Amino acid sequence: MNDPADRVRIFDTSLRDGEQSPGCSMTAAQKLRFAHALAELGVDALEAGFPASSEADRDAVRAIAREVRGSTITTLARCHDGDIDACAAALEGAADPRIHVFISTSPLHREHKLGLSREQVVERAVAGVQRARRHVDDVEFSAEDALRTEPEFLAEICSAAVAAGARTLNIPDTVGYTTPSEIRALFEYLRKALNASGVAGAGEVVFSAHCHNDLGLAVANSLAAIEGGARQVECTINGIGERAGNCALEELVMALRVRGNYYATHTRIDTRRLVPTSRLLSRITGMAVQRNKAVVGQNAFAHESGIHQHGMLKHRGTYEIMRPEDVGWAQSQMVMGRHSGRAALSDRLQTLGFQLPEPALNQVFAAFKTLAEKKREVFDGDLEALVLGADAAA
Ligand code: KIV
Ligand code: ZN
Repeated sequence: MNDPADRVRIFDTSLRDGEQSPGCSMTAAQKLRFAHALAELGVDALEAGFPASSEADRDAVRAIAREVRGSTITTLARCHDGDIDACAAALEGAADPRIHVFISTSPLHREHKLGLSREQVVERAVAGVQRARRHVDDVEFSAEDALRTEPEFLAEICSAAVAAGARTLNIPDTVGYTTPSEIRALFEYLRKALNASGVAGAGEVVFSAHCHNDLGLAVANSLAAIEGGARQVECTINGIGERAGNCALEELVMALRVRGNYYATHTRIDTRRLVPTSRLLSRITGMAVQRNKAVVGQNAFAHESGIHQHGMLKHRGTYEIMRPEDVGWAQSQMVMGRHSGRAALSDRLQTLGFQLPEPALNQVFAAFKTLAEKKREVFDGDLEALVLGADAAA
């Protein structure tokens, strides 16, 4: 039996942080459809939008709150009364609503974006959390640009947010600046500081990581945050999101599953739905997934080189660390191309119904190699033509 303390909650923000990035905008109907897919995937929370940002977002959140069940429905607000009240109105009818309030905390943002002192930022954060608590019990607080904030100030504002009623503390690496060892140490520091603060509720608060991918480290940093004690990770399908994107949900979830021996945590994601959910998002947004993307890319379980294909035919564990069926692919793929060898050709021909004696196989293999020099990929139809051509020549 898994210990509930070791469960990592998956908070999907494809419909908010993902959707607000270039090339990813969706209509309210598309957001509703995708929200259903996320709930079926088993995400613990889904961020449906930022109701104060547009009429379309308000409509989308309203529809999602009324219809989607099985996941906490979250909406984002600045620490402004209008934003928070718009969240509450849009969430009407939700079975399990959450309001997520945020304010920038780093010196750079305090000075250039907000023009506020530390004290004023804390005051606004507290007022925002308190106002959100008037509407719902479940309030999350985010310290925007947390990874470039003075750690002791971060601990101070987090304690104040918990005292005001926040249940989840999200520590965003807003600009993808941190490194794994740094973020792990920060989570360890914040957990200790909150425990030592004596604030009521500090012991039960859930720490959350929200990593952007500007240096390609979002998944690694989120995993390190888990090592430091984070028990919620905010991520998106296919890693969509501002600039270089957010932590990719499918990569994080499979890292936790494949390396469960190391992380000793689990999620409630139905991993067999990862590929269908990734495909659905691609179709809705028109944004293709790169071929070599981990887990959901077309090449994730494809093998072309002779040495790898030979190994795979003997034991799939030689070159695969997870089973394609476990993430929603039908099977691994042996791609026949100029790097492929005789063993893979013979295996594919048998699948196509040809049992060739040695001399005929040699002849077809020579013809296959010639063809493969001219074509990137040799398809089953090409192989059939080669065998039938060799038959005719015999
Ligand atoms: O990246 C970020 O800081 C955010 C917050 C609004 C949570 O998306
Ligand atoms: Zn973000």
